[in-house]
Amino acid sequence: MTAPVRRRSSLILRWLLLYAALFSLLVGFVLALVSWTTLVRRESAADRQLQEEARRLQDQLVGRTETQMAAVVSRTAAGRTTLVMLATERREYLAGNLRAWPRLGDAPHGDTRTVPLHEFPLDDGDAGGAASGGAPAAPGGATDTKDEPPRARGTTLDLPGGYRLLVAREVTAARELRALVTASLLATLAITAVLGIGGGVVLSRRLSSRLEELSRNSQAILEGDLHRRMPVSPRGDEFDGMSESLNRMLDRIEDLMAGMRAVSESIAHDLRSPISRLRSRIEVALMQPPDAAAARAVLEETVRDIDHVLAMFNALLTIAVAESGAPRERFADVDLAAIAADAVETYEPAAEEKGLRLSLDAAGPVRLRGEPHLLAQALANLLDNAVKYVPSPGRVAVRVAADGVRARLEVADDGPGLPESFRERAFERFSRVEASRTTPGSGLGLSLVRAVARLHGGEVTLGDGRPGLVVGIELPLS
Ligand SMILES: Nc1ncnc2c1ncn2[C@@H]1O[C@H](COP(=O)(O)OP(=O)(O)OP(=O)(O)O)[C@@H](O)[C@H]1O
Ligand SMILES: [Mg+2]
Repeated sequence: MTAPVRRRSSLILRWLLLYAALFSLLVGFVLALVSWTTLVRRESAADRQLQEEARRLQDQLVGRTETQMAAVVSRTAAGRTTLVMLATERREYLAGNLRAWPRLGDAPHGDTRTVPLHEFPLDDGDAGGAASGGAPAAPGGATDTKDEPPRARGTTLDLPGGYRLLVAREVTAARELRALVTASLLATLAITAVLGIGGGVVLSRRLSSRLEELSRNSQAILEGDLHRRMPVSPRGDEFDGMSESLNRMLDRIEDLMAGMRAVSESIAHDLRSPISRLRSRIEVALMQPPDAAAARAVLEETVRDIDHVLAMFNALLTIAVAESGAPRERFADVDLAAIAADAVETYEPAAEEKGLRLSLDAAGPVRLRGEPHLLAQALANLLDNAVKYVPSPGRVAVRVAADGVRARLEVADDGPGLPESFRERAFERFSRVEASRTTPGSGLGLSLVRAVARLHGGEVTLGDGRPGLVVGIELPLS
């Protein structure tokens, strides 16, 4: 029922193909550079050497008789790899290690400053074979050299008296090497391109399938399967990292939703009892014969119950506002010690009336950025609890201190304290210790204290005062 999201083009594939193309270009460039430096430069050096040799020989032959020239050419030919041939004007053999005048192609370079070089085929046994008469050199050379005649590269020079001189070197091996290098270069390029494109396609398929898996699961969650989670493999790769974060986020959302549901249920439940109480009281009053004094008493009780409901709504609203973070915009420089002094002064009469000793211990001002009304409300909630739950004669100590990094506000009493098992739950909305049900209250006081502490980037702890409860609020100073 959950169709995967169809995409018209894959970003990953496009990137990978671009990468493959760039990589192939780079490989091609590097290979071309390497072969150019090794082959081409070596060949042009050999060409230059040949041209110099040809000119030197020409200089030696000028002004000599035919016999002398033949002797010089024979000497040059003996024991050398250079191919030389002295011929008549009609290209008939006179001397040298090449027997037949080859059929020469066009000079590849038209540069007149240098001796022009030709490339031409040699017949079998170049240094002594018959006249070649072969076809002109095929450009580029073939890789299958078995059927190809050996090749040479050289120049012809005219001598006085109509004689002709040919100086050349064999290049068959060099041509074979060039063909081999070109073939391997192209093969490497082809392999690089195929691997690049193939790898790109495979990689893109795998990445796309992982992404589609994520999007399928999101779609399922979107369609109401709220317990569904992103797949996490044991490999622990980047996708698993992302899935884990998403799963943590979904868990948190689920927790929040569960919290919201619990709060709504609690509100409904906690509102029902005072309102039903109200209703039955009014109903009972209506059944009585009219009596102004009794009616007044009922109305007074009704106002008290409605005040309780209103106080509950106010507390819920204040907690919601503190949790939303909105009051941060109203943060001002406040002195926590002054706020504590005000609160202690306010609660002094109530404490005295209940037979409790309320004390304040603050060495000096403790300044921080905060919302003064919410901080005062939080401290008032703690003092209200102490006055409500600590039996007489008791003691309630308020302490304010700072250590340069954090401020600590502490309210310690010597009352019954809180059982360890209840301490974490104490911060949940509407949670109350069963024994305190007879005392008026909604179970929202500590929820607000925690919401205010967290709004200020701090935290609340509930400790054991042995006896009594120690509530500590730690707030960062900056
Ligand atoms: N100083 C204390 N000593 C012993 N028990 C306490 C103390 N403060 C709080 N408690 C227990 O923790 C519960 C939760 O406190 P909280 O202030 O959140 O709610 P409440 O006082 O019951 O109601 P409200 O503060 O909304 O009027 C109380 O019901 C009480 O049982
Ligand atoms: Mg309270």
